[in-house]
Amino acid sequence: MHTLKYQNADQMPILGLGTWKSAPGEVYTAVKEAVKMGYRHIDCAAIYGNEKEIGQALSELIQEEVVKREELWITSKLWNNGHGKDNVVPALKQTLADLQLEYLDLYLIHWPVAFKPGVMGAEKAEDYLSLEEQPIADTWLGMEEAVKLGLTRNIGVSNFSVTKLKALMEVASIKPEMNQVELHPYFQQNQMVEYCHSNNIHVTAYSPLGSSDRPEGLKQEDEPILLEDKNIEAIAKAKNVSIAQVILAWIVQRGISVIPKSVNPARLKQNLASADITLSEAEMQQMEALNIDRRYVDGKFWEVPGGPYTVANVWD
Ligand code: A2P
Repeated sequence: MHTLKYQNADQMPILGLGTWKSAPGEVYTAVKEAVKMGYRHIDCAAIYGNEKEIGQALSELIQEEVVKREELWITSKLWNNGHGKDNVVPALKQTLADLQLEYLDLYLIHWPVAFKPGVMGAEKAEDYLSLEEQPIADTWLGMEEAVKLGLTRNIGVSNFSVTKLKALMEVASIKPEMNQVELHPYFQQNQMVEYCHSNNIHVTAYSPLGSSDRPEGLKQEDEPILLEDKNIEAIAKAKNVSIAQVILAWIVQRGISVIPKSVNPARLKQNLASADITLSEAEMQQMEALNIDRRYVDGKFWEVPGGPYTVANVWD
């Protein structure tokens, strides 16, 4: 499979397995099946609440000699309550213990949103710290420390706007090498991808199949459903593949990593196979034409009365 290269010569398989919303009880089997069929990249996060179970699956796969640790690419993410220079390494150590690993391949700041340390679900203004009170630059020092300690090989961010990335690039000694963002045919992120790719920052597409819950304002009946899109269906039929496969192939062909979530063996298999499907120039252009700038993971859940975060300042 095609890989994305890092400054230290590490190579990340461009297509991985997403684990967001994979329920405990399901994700163990999904990870075992996935690695056995050839997945080598697993995308995790502390807040998904399933890292222990993923760790169990990984440890068995390594013990059973299905795969070696160094053949796997494991990503995880720092939750919002772990911001601040001195909180990053302890949070990462917990993730490593849960995943039963000695190091990660990639650790990301999950959101440019800080909770007070110890807060789990922030529901009121007092649970939050603004980015003036708890600057990203300070949290980044903790991320750099994690690299120096050998706890993660690479570091990056998630859900960062170009504005926030630019600010981080100016102060970082170790540059962020990844921005993981929502990206699919209805939300193509062209400016973001252009900025990242011209600054040696990779992009990973989450919710590539547009599966996220629709925000309140987008629940009307006529809201298009990506996996039922007639234009993508026409391309899929002509190539004798599924709509999901066309979407994943289109993302990979833009040089963007993609992490479709599935707990179903047949869909795991077809998603993996999509990394080898090539779209023609005309098909790529037909996909490009589908952009309607529809963000589904809108960040509105960070807005609380009197709190420091708004949809507008999260995506500045
Ligand atoms: P399941 O786990 O039952 O396969 P996303 O990665 O955009 O969040 O999408 C994940 C959602 O899409 C899950 O509900 C998953 O369900 C479903 N899904 C994953 N792969 C496919 C596929 N190839 N075709 C249709 N649905 C899929």
